[in-house]
Amino acid sequence: MHVLLTAGPTYEPLDPVRFLGNRSTGKMGYALAEAFAEAGADVTLVSGPVALPTPLHPNIRTVRVETAQQMYEAAAAVAPQADGWVFAAAVADYRPAHVASEKIKKDGDTLTLELVKNVDIAATLGHTKRPEQFAVGFALETTNELAHAQAKLHRKNFDLVVLNSLRDAGAGFGHDTNKVTVLDRAGQVLNFELQAKTELARVLVRLILTRFSAAYA
Ligand code: CTP
Ligand code: CA
Repeated sequence: MHVLLTAGPTYEPLDPVRFLGNRSTGKMGYALAEAFAEAGADVTLVSGPVALPTPLHPNIRTVRVETAQQMYEAAAAVAPQADGWVFAAAVADYRPAHVASEKIKKDGDTLTLELVKNVDIAATLGHTKRPEQFAVGFALETTNELAHAQAKLHRKNFDLVVLNSLRDAGAGFGHDTNKVTVLDRAGQVLNFELQAKTELARVLVRLILTRFSAAYA
């Protein structure tokens, strides 16, 4: 089995020394890469800028990118050959409309940036998904969590969506632990306990392989 995994944030350049980004550390995505590799899968890990070391597992090939557009191109190059896709990256939704070629000087008292929408990697690839391929997405919501996550699952053609809880201390960005709820296309809802991201990754990989790979069931 070959799994394509996106992880980490994306950085969208503003000028030669600045970027727009987010607080994703890549820990959950990297833990998933390790867990898939340990289960015997080959992993292509398309990673945004993170402080984590490149995984040493021989089953993991890491492709480092910076922007959403680069992440899309790296993922799209692998997607058709992969048996499944897991979109754990926190992709920047927008990027600066203009990238200044020189450092922006602090000339005015205010500065307005124009932003343009980035490609939606999961949704764009989702429309190319073949029946024998699976796709798993992540969602982070602050209101109507289940309804929004369910809508994302359908809009992006996911088979499963992993909803990150923001209500629990110790879950989400930067933490070593996470608490999630998994939704499937049939409307089934699975709640998982707060646990180490490494352990949660093993649980999610087991769930994914049991559902989508007869060979691993
Ligand atoms: N995603 C992606 N490309 C993007 C934005 C999101 O591949 N440009 C993926 C994420 O990796 C995640 C899923 O889509 O698996 C949902 O991301 P999320 O940010 O929750 O959804 P958005 O569609 O961006 O909606 P919003 O941020 O408005 O909630
Ligand atoms: Ca988003």
